[in-house]
Amino acid sequence: AVAFPERLATIRSTAQLGGGQARIDTQHSKGKLTARERLQVLLDPSSFRETDALALHRCTDFGMDKQKFYGDSVVTGSGTIHGRLVYVFSQDFTVFGGSLSAVHAEKICKIMDAAVKVGAPVIGINDSGGARIQEGVDSLAGYADVFQRNVLSSGVVPQLSLITGPCAGGAVYSPALTDFVLMSRGTSYMFVTGPDVVKTVTGETVTQEELGGASTHTAKSGVAHAAFDNEFELLTATRELLSYLPSSNKDQPPVVPSTDPWNRSCDALRFAVPDDPNASYNMKDVISQVVDRNSIFEIMPDFARNMITAFARIEGKTVGIVANQPCELAGCLDIDSSVKGARFVRFCDAFNIPIVTFVDVPGFLPGTAQEYGGIIRHGAKLLYAYAEATVPKVTVITRKAYGGAYDVMSSKHLRGDSNYAWPSAEIAVMGAKGAVEIIFRGKNVEEETANYTERFANPLKAAERGFIDDIIAPEDTRKRIAEDLRGLRARKDVKNLCRKHGNIPL
Ligand code: COA
Repeated sequence: AVAFPERLATIRSTAQLGGGQARIDTQHSKGKLTARERLQVLLDPSSFRETDALALHRCTDFGMDKQKFYGDSVVTGSGTIHGRLVYVFSQDFTVFGGSLSAVHAEKICKIMDAAVKVGAPVIGINDSGGARIQEGVDSLAGYADVFQRNVLSSGVVPQLSLITGPCAGGAVYSPALTDFVLMSRGTSYMFVTGPDVVKTVTGETVTQEELGGASTHTAKSGVAHAAFDNEFELLTATRELLSYLPSSNKDQPPVVPSTDPWNRSCDALRFAVPDDPNASYNMKDVISQVVDRNSIFEIMPDFARNMITAFARIEGKTVGIVANQPCELAGCLDIDSSVKGARFVRFCDAFNIPIVTFVDVPGFLPGTAQEYGGIIRHGAKLLYAYAEATVPKVTVITRKAYGGAYDVMSSKHLRGDSNYAWPSAEIAVMGAKGAVEIIFRGKNVEEETANYTERFANPLKAAERGFIDDIIAPEDTRKRIAEDLRGLRARKDVKNLCRKHGNIPL
C-alpha cells in the first residue's frame, strides 16, 4: 500500500489540476485563465493560502459518486494585495463547469465568515454554469447562504465581484449584492434568463453578448462598474481599486504617499470654465488638476456619463469624487446619474472615505421619460445619500448650481462641511432667461435679464447668507480641500440618530 504522505502528495497535485489538463486546455482556448491562474495574477506573489483544497462534493445521484474532484468547483483561501489581507474565491470552470454544489457554497461561506471576523475584503471571481444541476435544491440553498452573507457583510467589508465567464440565473445575485462588479470584455456575461428563454417568452432575438456582455452592463444596465479588455487587465485593475479602499468599515483607507505638493497652485483651473455660460467643458480636467497626480480610478465611466464618480487621492489619502459633467447632457441630473451617484456616496460613507463634490448642474433633466421613470424617487436617492452621509464632505461649485439640484449636490444644507464657489459660480433658482420669462412675462426682456444676471448669476447672494463658506480662486482649490480634509479626517465625529435603518426611497 502507498504510505499516507505519498498518497496525500498525489491527492494534492491532482487537486491542483481541477478538472484535468484537457479541460484546462479548453479553458485556455477560449482566451480564459484558470481559477488558479487568476489568483496568481490577483494576489501578491506566493501569498495565496488555500483552504478546503481537499473538500469533495457529497452528491450520489446521476452517477456523481463516481465523479469527484478534490476541492470541487471553486478555489478558496486568503492572500495579500499590496501587502494587505484579502479573502478570495475563484470558481473553477474545469470542474463541472464551475457549477455551484453544496460544498462549493460552503467553501465560499467559510471564507466570507473568516473575512468578516478579521475585517478584510472579499473578492469573488465568477466563472460558472450556475446551479449544480445534479444537486437540485441543495445548490439553491447554497446560493441563498451566500446571498445572506453578502447582505450581512455589506458596509462591513468591501466586496468585489469579477465576472470572467458565464454568470446566469440565480448566480447573478451574489455579484449584484456586492460593492463593485468588474467584467472581462468578450468572455463574460450576466443575465437572469438566457437568449433561448428570452426568445421563447418574448420573441426577441438577442445574442449572449448583447443581452449580458460587458458593454451592456457597463453602458446600458449599470449592473457592472467597469470592464476590461482581458483578464490580466481586469485583475490588475482590481489590485489598483483595492489600493483606494479600507479593509473594513473600522479601518481608514490606505495611504499611498504622493510627491505632489498639497498646496500646488492649480493655475490651469483659472481658465477651466468658459466665458460663455452655455459652452461646455470637461469636468475631468478639473478633477485631475485638483487630486494627486495620476490618482484617479473611475467607477462606472461608461454609464450615466453626465455624472462622474471616482476614487482619487489628496495628500496620499483616498477621497470619493462626485461631479456633474457639463459635456454630457449639460451635466443635468437624471435617473441613472442620481442612482449612480447615490450608490457611490453610500459606499464612501460606509467605508470612511471623504466625499469631494464638484458642482455644475443646470437642474434635473425634463421630460416624460424621466417623470414616468420615477425621477422623483430616484433623484431622492442621491439627496438621501448625501444627507445621511457623515464622512467629511467638501463641495466646490464651479459654475451652475440651479434649483433643487443645487440642494441635492452636497449643499451646506445637507451638512456639507466646507462649501466653496468659484467666482464663475451661479447659485440661483434657475438661469436668467427662464427666470425673466416667468417673472416679467416677456416684458423688457433684455434689461431685466441683465438685471437678473447681475443680481443672481454669481455666488454673492449665497455667500451673504453663509450657504457657501467662501468664494475661492480656482487655482487655490487643491490647497483649500487638502487643508479642510486634514482637519475633518482627524476630528469630525458626527453620528446619525440611532435607528434600525433608514428607509431610502428605493
Ligand atoms: N451543473 C452541472 N454541470 C455543469 C453545469 C451545471 N449547471 N454547467 C456546466 N456543467 C458541466 C458540463 O456538463 C460540462 O461537463 P464536462 O466537462 O464533464 O463535459 C462542463 O461543465 C462544461 O460545460 P460545457 O457545456 O461543455 O461548457 P460551455 O462553455 O460549452 O457552456 C454553459 C457553458 C454554462 C453555457 C453551459 O454549460 C450551460 O448552459 N450550463 C447549464 C446552465 C444552467 O442551466 N444552469 C442551471 C441553472 S442556474
